[in-house]
Amino acid sequence: MPLTIDGAKEAIPAVKRELRCALPNVAEVLAAVTNAVEQEIAEIVALQAAGQPVIPEIAFEALRADRVAPETVTQIRRRGAVIIRGVFSEAQASDWNDELGDYLARNGYDEADKDPSLDKYFSNLEAARPQIFGIYWSRPQVEARQSETMAVTRQWLNRLWRWQEPNGRHFDPDQDCIYADRVRRREPGDTSLGLSPHVDGGSVERWLDPTYRRVYGAAFAGDWQAVDPFDGAYRSAVQEIPSPAVCSAFRTYQGWTALTKQGPGDGTLQLIPSTRAMIYILLRPLLDDVAEDDLCDAAPGRSLWISERWHGPLLKGLMTIPTVHPGDTVWWHPDVVHGVEDRNSGTGYSNVMYIGAAPRCAKNDRYLEAQKPAFLTGRSAPDFAAEDFEVAYSGRAGLDMLTPRGRKQMGFD
Ligand SMILES: [Fe+2]
Repeated sequence: MPLTIDGAKEAIPAVKRELRCALPNVAEVLAAVTNAVEQEIAEIVALQAAGQPVIPEIAFEALRADRVAPETVTQIRRRGAVIIRGVFSEAQASDWNDELGDYLARNGYDEADKDPSLDKYFSNLEAARPQIFGIYWSRPQVEARQSETMAVTRQWLNRLWRWQEPNGRHFDPDQDCIYADRVRRREPGDTSLGLSPHVDGGSVERWLDPTYRRVYGAAFAGDWQAVDPFDGAYRSAVQEIPSPAVCSAFRTYQGWTALTKQGPGDGTLQLIPSTRAMIYILLRPLLDDVAEDDLCDAAPGRSLWISERWHGPLLKGLMTIPTVHPGDTVWWHPDVVHGVEDRNSGTGYSNVMYIGAAPRCAKNDRYLEAQKPAFLTGRSAPDFAAEDFEVAYSGRAGLDMLTPRGRKQMGFD
């Protein structure tokens, strides 16, 4: 049965009963998970205090030459995040940044009427909407998404997943589908609030959809150490509640490309760099102190937000990414908790283009079909608020801008 926002609350008690029945010692299991996550977070905090890196980093040229140390890969799997530096040259990224500014200014983005009710994504987060612009089809975005270095990067990242089994493959790690997303441009001194810690890709669905439950089936069976967050099984078959707040494609990673230099204090990305945190998030609502029809405040049709009340042990691990430069890229697993700092206390803009990885699979092919007409007409990408700012924009990218690779990635060939 398709999941809907209206029926979600009523469906929760029965699902919780079922899950508790299958895991009568959930309190004991969660205690072990909490202990493991707390140890991981203590390690993260200690590394930070010592000025040591927490999030693994790779130089693009090392990745291209296949010279990435196995320890780095192990760390990516644990932390669920990686910084890949120099995917684009600093000059290229800075040019794109200027071009995006011109595109927005020339087309009067700031003066356009905006209907805040359209954008459901940020409305339940404690902090308000940061400086995220609802544009998808500028030339810099299209160019960066279809670039060769981006394809090499995504291919390498996709292959960290378990993408096939003897009886078939979950997705094609070497072929990408473009999932068009927006840009962030944040002025120095900007004090409009950031984004509270959250996870995208579904909230209540993670418990209510039987297929989504199988993704973390080992955790719900108490065998939490057997969970492999990079196992592609079931991932592209999960069902989300249709909503402009939920990603309906399968992404192996969320990510962005830096257009300006930014680091701690500059109003940029924060992560809880642990793939085990999701196991805690999934099991926590099954304890007795959570109301029968509640999943620790998870709300249908919203991102899954992480609160001090229910997820205190995790929040201690929230950290800002280290300083990145134009052309560097940041990637995080779709189940990793992330947010955006409340203010930009730096002296420069902190600007990014959101570009993640969505490998070829039936689910993403369907998404491309919905996305194609939006590209051709300049409407907002299908998963997002239908603001449609770019319909009349001059300088918007069209079909003629797509390279053969880009045409394929957009589903035109
Ligand atoms: Fe997010």
